[in-house]
Formats: sequence, C-alpha cells, structure tokens
Amino acid sequence: MVVVLLGPPGVGKGTQAVRLVDELSAAHVSTGDLLRAARRDGTELGKIAQGFMDRGELVPDELILDLVKEHLAGIDASTDVMFDGFPRTTDQATGLDGVLEASGRKVDSVVLFEAPDDVLIKRLSGRRSCPDCGAVFNTYFSPPAAEGVCDRCGGALVHRADDEPETVQRRLQVYLDQTAPLIAFYEEHPAMMTSIAADRDVDQIYGEFRSAVTAGDGADS
Ligand code: AP5
Repeated sequence: MVVVLLGPPGVGKGTQAVRLVDELSAAHVSTGDLLRAARRDGTELGKIAQGFMDRGELVPDELILDLVKEHLAGIDASTDVMFDGFPRTTDQATGLDGVLEASGRKVDSVVLFEAPDDVLIKRLSGRRSCPDCGAVFNTYFSPPAAEGVCDRCGGALVHRADDEPETVQRRLQVYLDQTAPLIAFYEEHPAMMTSIAADRDVDQIYGEFRSAVTAGDGADS
C-alpha cells in the first residue's frame, strides 16, 4: 500500500503519519525530514537545500525525485509506504507514479488534511522539535513535561528556523501556488482521495485518518 499525505505546513501530517506508520509497521517517507538530515550531515544536497528551505521555497523537483528514488531503493517493495510532504508539485507526482510503476506499485490512497491559516500559523509558532529523535511538541497544545527538553530522549528542543512568521507566510503561499494544484491532479488520478478536517483534536483526526488508509486494505479498522 502506498499512501500520500497532502496538506499545508503545520496541518499535522507528520503528527498523524508517525502514529499510523508505527501501528501499521509502514515506512514513513518525509522529504522534509530527509532534507533536514542531509543538512545536518553536511551533504552536497543538504548544502543546496538549505537556502531553499530557509526561504520557505521548494527544493528543485529533480533533487527531490533523486532523493526519494534513493531512499525507496532501501525499502523492501512489499513494505507499506506513507509519503509525508511529498509530492509537492505535479512534476513530483508524475515522477512518483513513474518510480512506483517501475516496481509494479502505484499510489493507492491520498489523504488531504485541511485547516484554516490562523490554525496553521498558531501550530507552527508553537511547534518545538527534537533534532535528536524527531519527536514533535507544541507549546500551546502538547507541551513537553519540562520546557525545552524532549520527553522521549532528553534532547534540547528547537523552534525550526522556517517556523518564524515571515517564512511561514511564504510557505503558505508556496503551498497555494505549487502544491494545492495536486488536489485537482489526484481527483483525476485512480488513487482514492479522502479529505479530513484537521482543525480538531489529534485523536479525532487519527480515527478518521486510520479508517481512510485502512479501508479496503484488509487491515482492522
Ligand atoms: P516539511 O518539513 O515537509 O514541512 P511542511 O510540509 O511545511 O510540514 P510541516 O512539517 O511544517 O507540518 P506538518 O503538517 O507535518 O505538521 P506537524 O505534524 O509537525 O518541509 C520543510 C521544507 O523542506 C519545505 O518548506 C521545503 O523547502 C522543503 N521540502 C520538503 N519536502 C519537499 C518537497 N517534496 N519538494 C520540495 N521541497 C521540499 O504539526 C505542526 C504542529 O502542530 C506541531 O507542533 C504539532 O504538535 C501540532 N499539532 C499537530 N496536529 C495538531 C492538532 N490536531 N491539534 C493541535 N496541535 C496539533
């Protein structure tokens, strides 16, 4: 099963994905996380990506498609995959179809998370992430037990540089201009698409998300 999570920055794609991949033993492929790892490791890709990410712009499609191809090559073809934050342009989406087709797979379902901009802006301004283990907290909605300290591994939490207000505005605009057209793309695509109102409690969203992904997959729902 191959699932694509679509939605604006801060809507909760990562929060929901981490929980479901854990439950389904699926692979979580977040291009944002892969790019941040490349930056931390100081790779050539990481150096090129840095400027785009700091400005809230998209990293060029060819680089992203190469990154995803390389990453997928390390995942067994029988493993369920959940793409989070990828594809983000129609060229990336057609590229993904080509890559999957080459291994006899296809995108089976697309889940679109939606929430108003004021909700997204508040979530991003309160987000605190652990660079060591990837755990995500929120100073408004899900604070860590001790301020600035990761509950899971004790690492120091950070506020992502691209979560600063000016960059958030740019990311929201980039989403509208370059990623929102994927909604029409997937409406025409054979994959099943489900929209979920993400301006709600995490557990409520999760119930709907889980049902959408497992419907027709034979997993308990
Ligand atoms: P990326 O890391 O993918 O960022 P994004 O898509 O903008 O998504 P976010 O991680 O900001 O949000 P999310 O929806 O995962 O929300 P989260 O669950 O964390 O990309 C970063 C950059 O990398 C891009 O700008 C671009 O430069 C580059 N890039 C990445 N992929 C690319 C691609 N394919 N092509 C080109 N460039 C690419 O939740 C947010 C906060 O809200 C958290 O604090 C969380 O705790 C809280 N929260 C979540 N759900 C709820 C809820 N229901 N109620 C209350 N709080 C909640």
